[in-house]
Amino acid sequence: MSDPIPLARPALGPEEERAVLEVLRSGQLSLGPRLREFERAFATLVRAPLASAISSGTAGLHLALRAVGAQEGEEVVTSPFSFVASANAVLYERARPVFADIDPVTLNLDPDAAEAAIGSHTSTLLPVHIFGYPADMAAFEAIARRHGLAIVEDACEALGARHADGVPVGGRGHPAVFGFYANKQLTTGEGGMITLSDPALKQMIDSERNQGRAPNMDWLDHDRLGFNYRLSDIACAVGIAQLSKIEQTLAQRAHVAELYRQALSGIEGLTLPCSDRDGAQRGWFVFVVQLPRGVNRDDAVRALAARAIQSKPYLPAIHLMSYYRERFGHREGQFPVCEDVAARSLALPFFPQMSEGQVARVAQQLASILGQEAAAAT
Ligand SMILES: Cc1ncc(COP(=O)(O)O)c(C=O)c1O
Repeated sequence: MSDPIPLARPALGPEEERAVLEVLRSGQLSLGPRLREFERAFATLVRAPLASAISSGTAGLHLALRAVGAQEGEEVVTSPFSFVASANAVLYERARPVFADIDPVTLNLDPDAAEAAIGSHTSTLLPVHIFGYPADMAAFEAIARRHGLAIVEDACEALGARHADGVPVGGRGHPAVFGFYANKQLTTGEGGMITLSDPALKQMIDSERNQGRAPNMDWLDHDRLGFNYRLSDIACAVGIAQLSKIEQTLAQRAHVAELYRQALSGIEGLTLPCSDRDGAQRGWFVFVVQLPRGVNRDDAVRALAARAIQSKPYLPAIHLMSYYRERFGHREGQFPVCEDVAARSLALPFFPQMSEGQVARVAQQLASILGQEAAAAT
């Protein structure tokens, strides 16, 4: 049997090991110098004035939504084609996630559909840069201006992405949230970062991630409700080491994506991730294809697994998850583009060290499972 090919694999080396050891030996494991250093370096990378490190992307979405004032009784318009955390974070504040359909090409929230979903209780737009492809922020910014709404960006999958105007995702000023789980472009094991431009919002976020304590307050005094959403200096040190080689990691990921594109282009009925268009640039996070209509995806996953290749249906539509169905009465047919894509999408193995041979093996096996042996380019 051939070597197994995993879905994802973090790229960690001696730089990260050294950085962790240094922090362990320093004796300051949290709220130490690595925190500020990581925040500054990350902000510079995405050209944001400010950044706050937090314990996860989910925690970041929660604090960012609180920072822009989303609260009970309000509505937040967002994408049903996302990881569930983007909608869950809205519920943490007892606000309501209102979904709108996605663009069939980019798979991002469709600005026209989002605008049509705005009602009298809408306070916030929460676009998601899904699979690292930049959402149309110029359109969302215009909508937010017209309706007086706040914006929070879910950029958890989008490190390295750029908008058509050249601004990196995360650098537009309103809070944007990145995630550093092990499969992401940059990992700290668990972790995340909020980038933003307003110092008052940063102050609030920094306080709320640390139990509601202001920087100048006594250890046991707290002047607002807070959480423990801190990111340890150990994690920040890993993040700094990862940042030092991020351009190389992003280039490797883009190279693997290009290898896939060539290897899979002959398979009939298979939809590949959209190419960059109009100057926008994807930050490669996952390689998700949409299987030809009529193919049983579960069978395909099982057949790939039998050939030692991991794959995963990715992503399910949030509104059709049982919790969301039961709580909000969602049903099939509400967001047809999202539902069609969610029913056919499959994440293939994707990580920066993936070899040309591994990509070719995945492509050949997928082609063979789809009955198109001759289609995979070798
Ligand atoms: C689009 C999106 N939003 C939010 C999250 C949540 O991030 P985390 O797992 O770091 O909490 C993820 C992470 O997988 C994600 O992909």
